[in-house]
Amino acid sequence: MDVKIREMRESDLDRIMEIEVKTFSPPWSREAFLLELTKNLLAKYIVAEVDGEVAGYGGIWLIIDEGHITNIAVEEKYRGLGVGNRIVEGLIQLCIDRDIKAATLEVRKSNEIAKSLYKKYGFKEYGIREGYYSDNNEDAIIMWKTIQF
Ligand SMILES: CC(C)(COP(=O)(O)OP(=O)(O)OC[C@H]1O[C@@H](n2cnc3c(N)ncnc32)[C@H](O)[C@@H]1OP(=O)(O)O)[C@@H](O)C(=O)NCCC(=O)NCCS
Repeated sequence: MDVKIREMRESDLDRIMEIEVKTFSPPWSREAFLLELTKNLLAKYIVAEVDGEVAGYGGIWLIIDEGHITNIAVEEKYRGLGVGNRIVEGLIQLCIDRDIKAATLEVRKSNEIAKSLYKKYGFKEYGIREGYYSDNNEDAIIMWKTIQF
């Protein structure tokens, strides 16, 4: 499948919100994404396009020599086709381009698919934030990956 990775633009936000509200509870607001794109100088967001349609997206904060992955989502109809792989590869590439030493993220303890995706790219479990997710009080697993020494 032909997946194109490019930077997220303001004009993507209607489509991003369509995917976001179907994917996360609670979802980020449109304003939150807009601030990330226009005001947060540390933030980078990418989208994955399939046949010209945005199928998924991911974001990262590049803070000095650390990358903090903020979110990754793929619309349900595009899942299991390798789009998530391409988004993670795109975020890791942003780290490599910026000489980032390590990347981290939080993932719900029960989210086996996402944990498997991250482990595939070398992320390892380093700790737990108890009750991190306010909707159901679920713990977050903290994962880290070394990018380069
Ligand atoms: C997690 C998510 C982004 C994966 O996207 P995707 O496009 O379906 O992923 P891919 O098809 O590229 O698969 C990548 C890897 O994920 C894992 N994976 C994907 N589908 C899986 C499944 N049904 N069961 C187990 N592992 C699975 C595998 O490790 C897979 O590696 P492989 O390609 O070698 O098999 C997607 O399921 C999603 O949007 N989920 C809801 C939002 C979410 O949980 N985001 C992460 C928040 S931390």
